[in-house]
Amino acid sequence: MKYILNLSLVALLLAVFSCDGNKTAGTLGASDEVETRVERILSEMTLAEKIGQMNQVSAGGDVAQYADALRKGQIGSILNEVDPAKINEFQRIAVEESRLGIPLLVGRDVIHGFHTVFPIPLGLAATFDPALVEEGARVAAIEATAQGVRWTFSPMLDIARDPRWGRIAEGSGEDPYLDARMAEAMVHGYQGREADSTSMAACIKHFVGYGAAEGGRDYNSTFLTERQLRNIYLPPFEAAVKAGAMTLMTSFNDNDGVPSTGNTFVVKDVLRGEWGFDGLVVTDWNSMGEMINHGFGEDRKDVAEKAVNAGVDMDMMTYGFLSHLEELVKSGAVKEKTINQAVRNILRVKVMLGLFDNPYVDVDAAAAVQYAPAHLASAQKTVEESAILLKNDGVLPLGKGLRILVTGPLADAPHDQLGTWAFDGEKAHTVTPLKALRERFPGQVDYVPGLRFSREKRSSFADVVAAARRADVVLAFLGEEAILSGEAHSLADLNLQGSQSELLAALKTAGKPVVAVVMAGRPLTIERDLPNVNGLLYSFHPGTMGGPALANLLFGDVNPSGKTPITFLRTVGQAPLYYSHNMTGRPYNGETLLEDIPLEAGQTSLGNTSYYLDYGAYPLFPFGYGLSYTSFAYSGIGLDKEAYKADETLRVNFTLTNTGAFDGTEVAQVYIRDLVGSITRPVKELKAFERVSLKAGESRTLTVDIPVQELAFVGLDGEKKVEAGEFLLWVAGDSASGEAIRFKVL
Ligand code: NOJ
Repeated sequence: MKYILNLSLVALLLAVFSCDGNKTAGTLGASDEVETRVERILSEMTLAEKIGQMNQVSAGGDVAQYADALRKGQIGSILNEVDPAKINEFQRIAVEESRLGIPLLVGRDVIHGFHTVFPIPLGLAATFDPALVEEGARVAAIEATAQGVRWTFSPMLDIARDPRWGRIAEGSGEDPYLDARMAEAMVHGYQGREADSTSMAACIKHFVGYGAAEGGRDYNSTFLTERQLRNIYLPPFEAAVKAGAMTLMTSFNDNDGVPSTGNTFVVKDVLRGEWGFDGLVVTDWNSMGEMINHGFGEDRKDVAEKAVNAGVDMDMMTYGFLSHLEELVKSGAVKEKTINQAVRNILRVKVMLGLFDNPYVDVDAAAAVQYAPAHLASAQKTVEESAILLKNDGVLPLGKGLRILVTGPLADAPHDQLGTWAFDGEKAHTVTPLKALRERFPGQVDYVPGLRFSREKRSSFADVVAAARRADVVLAFLGEEAILSGEAHSLADLNLQGSQSELLAALKTAGKPVVAVVMAGRPLTIERDLPNVNGLLYSFHPGTMGGPALANLLFGDVNPSGKTPITFLRTVGQAPLYYSHNMTGRPYNGETLLEDIPLEAGQTSLGNTSYYLDYGAYPLFPFGYGLSYTSFAYSGIGLDKEAYKADETLRVNFTLTNTGAFDGTEVAQVYIRDLVGSITRPVKELKAFERVSLKAGESRTLTVDIPVQELAFVGLDGEKKVEAGEFLLWVAGDSASGEAIRFKVL
């Protein structure tokens, strides 16, 4: 034993110290003590035990079925068990009855809250408030870890520019900069700034390009060039890795013919090689097995070889590693050194989470932290910052003594307002808008649902219209049921489902002010509905505390400040349409639309630009857009210099004034355009944002610093750098406003 330990110490020294004697810093920043521990455990493991660590199974509910495999050390991780007593039992068998007593990593999709459900991630992004998003992820970690879950499969960092893709709900939208800031916030929130028993390992996913699925059809192929990957899809992952994300999940899609789970370039070369990631890489659910469906491998043995050699450490649910790695090592197709590296990555996370010191949870204490008042308050505040005011003809905020008609399928839908991936949220704890409004205005609220669920079709709304006539104001809660977005739930039609648009049209005939609140998993195409409402508040599925938060917004206790994290389309045929598209050879200048074309017109393209004859070139609402009950003016926008060296920092100065009658919060956004590059550059790119709260009439001069290196991109020569030349810069309240100023990079 002593001999083995000594040998392992030598191996450790070789692994941990580079030739010049400095510690090779991994992205997890593990201490020497952690690495020593990992090497010691590794040195004691048989090949079979190592392979066992690389196997993850969905063991929810069934300890007995897995007891034997646990004793043999054939399971490194389980997912989908949240009962603390059962988790303790799983751990007890792993720790007390297996030869080496290695604890399990217990994973779960804790995507936007555990019991206390926060807005869906797209809604979190709409807050443009990383600090608040970090707080929400912390809440999720505190609740989940109290029950024994120490690993979440979140955040999803897939840039998504096609709202047909149902999983657009699970990410931060279309923009790499916003996505990166949200990624860092969630990683810090889940894992905690300091590791302790409430640290829950984050899993950044899905690596990579999954959100660019053809036609928005989930699981479909992507065709992203290396430059697109490096300039748009990889940066949020790199930011999250730098923030210390402990784990990463490979995606289902094949990019240009190579499924991610067998993609050596992205996993081994970029993630491990270039970024130095020393965390754990797990496959998506059977994504290793699906490489057989892709026709990328003959059988499970073949795909197991491809995955492990590409740099994957853990197999979620294919059993490909467990069944075949031993023979693959024996045949020489997989090197034992590769297995050792994978197991190090797994053990490192387990050691860093403290699982070897205490794998158990206090079952009696677990319940006390669920739905804690502070958690509910944080969830409510997040909805209040996330909801986006898209239309207001002056009807909002509402006055207090009104007779209110509440209608619509989302008014009292405690399951649906939780949104997708809310496995542990409970209807009984959800506060719906109807409940909140009734509590707040006893005797003033009439409720006629009109439609019981979002897909329902109905031809007459006589009952609702009659009720609307009796009311002073109509609040229509519309949108999508939770199941219409999320994984495997792509849609080709993004109008309001069922007869919801007809409900709004009928309500208009009552002649009373109508305010719509849309709760959905994606930006729906609501253009046709806007004329039928006086006000519209868009709240991506808001979670547990949606009701009170929305009531506060509608009645002016809180002033809306959310901004669109994604472009809202006029019609689905515009997809994909996003603000930071490249400069085309023919920028749109508002020319001929369908109705302007004469009959039997001769063919011409002269003077025409990139747009649709029927829908023009613009979206319904641009990225970064959102109204307030007050108004804001930007002035004095300037830079501290006219020209910068590549290692300097742009100092952007501007004055923001609240020019309206309400106190409010604005998300000031800084965009740039690189006018000439070695490759075509986007028309605008977000480079900074700041939430600024101002009293009515208040003015504040603000400074935002942007390192010139933030302007770097991968150009024609494949190198990431800032190219010298002239730039435009805007400071504005959305991506389509503001006057540009100029600066140079030398
Ligand atoms: C499949 C999904 O793609 C992934 O996001 C999720 O984390 C796993 N299943 C585990 O549930």
